[in-house]
Amino acid sequence: VTGRRLIAPHGALRGTLDVPGDKSISHRAFLLGTLCNGTVRVAQPLESADIACSRRLAEAVGARVHVSDDGYAIEGAGEHLVEPPDVLWCGNSGTTMRIGAGVVSHAPGVRVMTGDASLRRRPMRRIVDPLRAFGLQVTAANGGTRAPLVVSGGPTHATAFDLDTASAQVKSALLLAGGRTGVRVREPRQSRDHTERMLHALGARLSRDADGWWSLRPSPWSGTDLTVPGDLSSAAFWLVAASIHPGSDLVLPGVGLNPTRRGVIDALTMMGADITIEDAVDDVEPRGTLHVRHAELRGVHIDGDLALSCLDELPVLAVAAALAEGETVIADASELRVKESDRIARVARGLRAMGIEVEERPDGMVIEGGHFSGPRPRIDAEGDHRLAMAFAVAGGRHPEGVVLDHASSVATSYPGFFDDLAATIEEGTR
Ligand code: S3P
Repeated sequence: VTGRRLIAPHGALRGTLDVPGDKSISHRAFLLGTLCNGTVRVAQPLESADIACSRRLAEAVGARVHVSDDGYAIEGAGEHLVEPPDVLWCGNSGTTMRIGAGVVSHAPGVRVMTGDASLRRRPMRRIVDPLRAFGLQVTAANGGTRAPLVVSGGPTHATAFDLDTASAQVKSALLLAGGRTGVRVREPRQSRDHTERMLHALGARLSRDADGWWSLRPSPWSGTDLTVPGDLSSAAFWLVAASIHPGSDLVLPGVGLNPTRRGVIDALTMMGADITIEDAVDDVEPRGTLHVRHAELRGVHIDGDLALSCLDELPVLAVAAALAEGETVIADASELRVKESDRIARVARGLRAMGIEVEERPDGMVIEGGHFSGPRPRIDAEGDHRLAMAFAVAGGRHPEGVVLDHASSVATSYPGFFDDLAATIEEGTR
């Protein structure tokens, strides 16, 4: 098995950690940048396997990527995208495939998109049908529902979509596919709005009406300079790790605090976590320093808009819930079943292997807080970076530690995760 690791039980986490750049925003720098007539200069982007896929996709359809001191300059291809010379490999990255489909809708010729086994299991009808509605020809495996995707033609007319699932990837794909014809999109709940913020910064003609419809009217997009904040989804592992390890005290500077992404801070605060925000800066993407100290946690209900705004952090929030006092109910999170893996099933199975009572539900789970116990558990993180990190965090509090298989999947979003863990564990406590 590749990347097997033992996480030994350890004590407090202390110090200052610069978490890597935000994954969603880094993808968008390359993907939106490709469609610009100008240059997107991006400082402090995430460097990871997922982002490398978006960078390669950008270059394959004609964007030029220049390395700068602290990031990249992405020179857009504007109206002059080219036919990709080969299959577009999207790896483990749903964002590259879905938002990337909106980008490559403007390229000439045939575009073939595929990825790893996890990505080929994920639902793609949600972008296939809308791209067809724009006038593109799209074929996809498994009756039009799964990658590989084959895309030809281009968007020929404006279209409106009243989405039934809140998905930032789908919303973004439609906004990008509709950049030249115009498009209207509405979603049932507000998903993360990084694309809308970046489009405004690029000078796009984007507006929102009182009924929640986004309208994008055709116009050239210029470039912009942007600094990528630290990824709150990566910081979330430290927020939970410090909360559950007595004596911990961690400072996480420059973390993204976009209101559509802040649910993990709200949920942990409801649980009794000790998290303060310092030096908040309001920019295209707001950011601030998070300071977290150990605290006793209690069970809570996470559902509705709160669940949506911390969906990617639910695996590690479930670890916090496992060690909290009382019951935690997670609901309205059925989308968690179609992420890099079925995160409801795999989190429930993993926590049970650590001695915790968990009831699995179609749209979430009920976790009875307690203590990790029993023989040393073995957790397989195959195909899912966030499971690897969530169970690494949990393992430090199991009396026997945990064996993690496929721990190398952290490279998707946080290649330095295990180094950062080793660097913050207090001397003499491991
Ligand atoms: C993302 C959107 C979310 C999130 C994913 C990244 C994005 O998915 O879970 O990790 O960058 O747009 P949805 O498309 O389901 O909102």
